[in-house]
Amino acid sequence: MPTQAPPRHGQGSSAPGCPHTPPRSPGSANRRRIERRRSQSQYPHLYFGGHETTANTLIWSLFLLSLSEEWRARLELEARAVLEGPVEDHAARLVETKAVIEEAMRLYPPVASMSRQAIGPDDLAGKRIRKNSLVIVSQWVLHRHRLLWDKPDCFDPRRFLPGSREKIDRFAYLPFGAGPRVCIGASFSLQEASDYPRPYRAVVFL
Ligand code: HEM
Repeated sequence: MPTQAPPRHGQGSSAPGCPHTPPRSPGSANRRRIERRRSQSQYPHLYFGGHETTANTLIWSLFLLSLSEEWRARLELEARAVLEGPVEDHAARLVETKAVIEEAMRLYPPVASMSRQAIGPDDLAGKRIRKNSLVIVSQWVLHRHRLLWDKPDCFDPRRFLPGSREKIDRFAYLPFGAGPRVCIGASFSLQEASDYPRPYRAVVFL
């Protein structure tokens, strides 16, 4: 009489007889489906969060440059000097360009606010927070706060030049957020935006 041996430990249904197939728990197919759906739901965030933000940063930088003859001239000089050198050094050497981009993100933060829902009661700067309350941190408000910035509504990229940049409080300037959910694309997008002296020259200087 034919008999069917019970599956051995570590034997998965997709690889019969293979002793190296990791064991699967009964609900694992379902879990994989859920994981796939969850990761698919992140694609639009990665796509839009990673493109629109950088595009907005560039547009506001160009707008602010269009209002400042001084900074247009400074960036033109920097672009001429840096573009002569090796491509891999561009981002590090475009110091003034990066300062303009950071100042544009201060005045026009691509992410204007972030929110969290309180998982329990808490105290925040002397205010009582109830469970499930929505707590909003607004970069727009923070970046133009008169107690945190000198002439906050004024376009002045000098704030972000070496020597001044280090004096900015870590939590006064949050274009990329902070803490465990800080933007994973921060360095990439800064580098991407800074390495655009060519479009700057094309749009602003020509
Ligand atoms: C100028 C460009 C960008 C700005 C201003 C920006 C801003 C932000 C901010 C403020 C957050 C935190 C949101 C929160 O705490 O609620 C965030 C998160 C995130 N960003 Fe960006 N972002 C930019 C570019 C990018 C790029 C290029 C990518 C991907 C390549 C990216 C991927 C993400 C992801 C995946 C998160 C969620 C991180 C997590 O929740 O653990 N971002 N971004």
